[in-house]
Amino acid sequence: RVYVLAFDVGVDRLAAARIGLGGVILDRREAERRRGPFDLGQVVTTLAGFARQMLRGVRADAVCVGAAVAFCGAVRKSDGVVRIGPNVGAEEVPLGEELSKRLSLGLPVVVGNDANLGALAEHARGAGVGCRDLVYLHGDVGIGGGIVVNGQLLSGADGYGGEVGHMVLNPGGRPCGCGSRGCFEAEVGERALLEYAGRQGGAAGRDGIRAIVTAAELGDAAAKEALRRVGHWLGLGVANLVNVLNPEMVIFGGMLRDIYLGAAAQVRSTLNTTALRATREGLRLRTAALGDDATLMGAAELAFADVLADPLEA
Ligand code: BGC
Ligand code: NA
Ligand code: ZN
Repeated sequence: RVYVLAFDVGVDRLAAARIGLGGVILDRREAERRRGPFDLGQVVTTLAGFARQMLRGVRADAVCVGAAVAFCGAVRKSDGVVRIGPNVGAEEVPLGEELSKRLSLGLPVVVGNDANLGALAEHARGAGVGCRDLVYLHGDVGIGGGIVVNGQLLSGADGYGGEVGHMVLNPGGRPCGCGSRGCFEAEVGERALLEYAGRQGGAAGRDGIRAIVTAAELGDAAAKEALRRVGHWLGLGVANLVNVLNPEMVIFGGMLRDIYLGAAAQVRSTLNTTALRATREGLRLRTAALGDDATLMGAAELAFADVLADPLEA
């Protein structure tokens, strides 16, 4: 009868779910987030509204034991404050504290990085079950990394470990939301893909990416070339990661799922010419088995973990 409230704050989407033990989604809500400066009040109001709606239908003997948010930015471990969300204009945002106040369930709200939580979920009950070492790459507008080493999620000194989207792959290259240039996420992201395909004015986000993948499948030369270019940078980023971490598996989630599916041959071929044979020959490349629910499910894992002990602190 116990459940947790899991939330997801992405660049284009706000989502919430009521999730039971074993990752069972009991109820869910979602809405589009308008791009623009980060509005904490609006985000908290939307998420708390979802929670209220979901709690209305719950049977009297069910107990909410925790709440957590997956966020598209770096989250400070010591206090759970969002340190920076480069693609949502967020800086030093006390999201957990504010949401906890607004929910008034007498529960803390823990906050984690979207990719870290996606990695937890894929590791626990997705494509990475049974892997001790894996990298989960989460594509939103940016790219996040969730790195599992020897069965443990890598958090780094302050919780910012795994910010792989800002590895510089192309010095002086495309501008990134973080202020630098040529970052992995700037070269592989939605903007690069839309521009290479000559579709800057068209649909952005997930829809824009899917339209390009579909066009490529139908033989559109510009779309194919755009995916090839972006696939090259994706393969290069993966090559650097596998050379450093030697994972058994790399999992592509969020928007990267679509990009990878459209560019898999190029990703493999760049990987084959840039990663050490030793680190790539046993490597499995997979898409997220939990699909777009990976980050929400990871937030649920975090909320349950917070109730028991905190394996992230181990
Ligand atoms: C942020 C990461 C996040 C990723 C995907 C990047 O720009 O720095 O923290 O995980 O986008 O949302
Ligand atoms: Na991360
Ligand atoms: Zn960057």
